[in-house]
Amino acid sequence: MTVREAIEVRKSVRTYKKEAVDSEIMARLREMCREPRQCLPGQQARIVVIERGLEGRVGTYGIISGAQCCLALVYRDVDGLSAVNAGMVMENIVLWLTQQSQGTCWLGGTFSRSNVTAAASPAPDERIAAIVVLGIAADRERLVARVMQKFAGSRRRRAFDDLFDIGDNRQWSPALELMRLAPSALNGQPWRAVAEGNAIHFFCTKPEGLGLLDTGIGLAHFAAGNDKPGKWETVGNAASIRPEWRYVISFLAE
Ligand SMILES: Cc1cc2nc3c(=O)[nH]c(=O)nc-3n(C[C@H](O)[C@H](O)[C@H](O)COP(=O)(O)O)c2cc1C
Repeated sequence: MTVREAIEVRKSVRTYKKEAVDSEIMARLREMCREPRQCLPGQQARIVVIERGLEGRVGTYGIISGAQCCLALVYRDVDGLSAVNAGMVMENIVLWLTQQSQGTCWLGGTFSRSNVTAAASPAPDERIAAIVVLGIAADRERLVARVMQKFAGSRRRRAFDDLFDIGDNRQWSPALELMRLAPSALNGQPWRAVAEGNAIHFFCTKPEGLGLLDTGIGLAHFAAGNDKPGKWETVGNAASIRPEWRYVISFLAE
């Protein structure tokens, strides 16, 4: 499965078979999580693999059933890009897991923070951003999961032109189309983009709460779909392009 196909088929899975994840996939996952590749310079996000049944331990308030493993996303809050980088790092793992036919679900709210803190032991200056549950999807979601999907309007995505202002600069369309499909807390889709010359500037409409983490998740999808060489950069005057939103970062094509 290509990463593009993974993005197209991925959806949050909340009901899992009570089976352990394939040992080879687990071995590669542990290896990838040992020193995950940071997506933005100067950032430190890490992922702790928690291998145990979640019910009763990493409580998920009945939202998740059957999963035997989850990943805790822990990061050091260095600057305004730390949560963005953390979202990118973890979503790359989510997309890899999807390519391995594993189901996943990000949880930002419905998990027991105290239990995850005990398992992940963050340093005093580290934060637990969220967890990602993984495993083999059950054949059918339970009622509580279907209610959650409906409540979050999970299948819906905003129209391309509501999110992205790229004028005639269609070179960015394929990558932005993948960004549009990214998961976000309560399906809020807080990411926006404006193209200007050889740059594309990214913004977040809800920088409080999980908005910057969500924006990082969207940027991981953009990066997966972008084949143009270039670099991530903070552009001095970009914030004034859309002062009503929080400027996040730009990608400058070479
Ligand atoms: C950062 C983040 C936090 C989330 N937190 C929760 C959560 O606490 N409980 C839950 O059931 N789903 C949670 N989700 C899943 C979203 O509801 C879901 O991704 C969104 O509705 C889009 O649906 P899809 O993933 O099936 O495409 C979260 C997703 C993200 C990205």
